[in-house]
Amino acid sequence: MGDVVIREATHADLPGIAAAFREVVAEGETYCYPDGLTDAQIAEEWLLPSPWRVMVAYAVDGTPGTFLGVAKSGPNRPGRGAHIATASFLVSAAARGHGVGRALGERVIAWARESGYAAMQFNAVVETNTAAVRLWQNLGFRILTTAPGAFDSRRHGRVGLHVMWLDF
Ligand SMILES: CC(C)(COP(=O)(O)OP(=O)(O)OC[C@H]1O[C@@H](n2cnc3c(N)ncnc32)[C@H](O)[C@@H]1OP(=O)(O)O)[C@@H](O)C(=O)NCCC(=O)NCCS
Repeated sequence: MGDVVIREATHADLPGIAAAFREVVAEGETYCYPDGLTDAQIAEEWLLPSPWRVMVAYAVDGTPGTFLGVAKSGPNRPGRGAHIATASFLVSAAARGHGVGRALGERVIAWARESGYAAMQFNAVVETNTAAVRLWQNLGFRILTTAPGAFDSRRHGRVGLHVMWLDF
């Protein structure tokens, strides 16, 4: 993969985000979203307003370039839980395994740290999602606990959901 640019998302990025979102829902291995969400519903989930931060990655192979992935990060809980960040990531299937997830993860962690969050929590990492579990562990996250059988994987049936944690 050539050069990758990561920048703040705008509404113009919705087609790429929606395509990657629909791939992941069809795979049925990583997120609990229902089938059949409209573009507007996907935008409500992913193009979140401040204090959330949404970043997109593109390959620099033309104008506007090929969409590679998206990350959103913000408070894990409102009010008295708002000092802990959370984040979610989608890399388009064709772009996986080339460092895009790592680049987005490093960017999101740096942003949350600089923004004054005390830690980052992932609430529901599917235990059979090897790429994600490895990547988060390589970036310093540990598994706090696993909710047994809480995810109904298309291929594996009921598998656990990890709660993962990174102290800043
Ligand atoms: C999980 C995901 C974000 C990772 O992004 P990616 O661009 O494919 O990952 P990268 O190429 O940056 O690889 C990151 C690390 O994971 C490892 N990895 C990637 N794919 C892997 C696989 N299939 N099996 C094992 N390890 C894998 C790489 O070795 C790499 O290791 P590093 O820490 O030494 O760099 C991406 O696969 C994705 O969007 N999947 C679908 C949605 C999803 O699972 N989102 C996250 C939910 S928690």
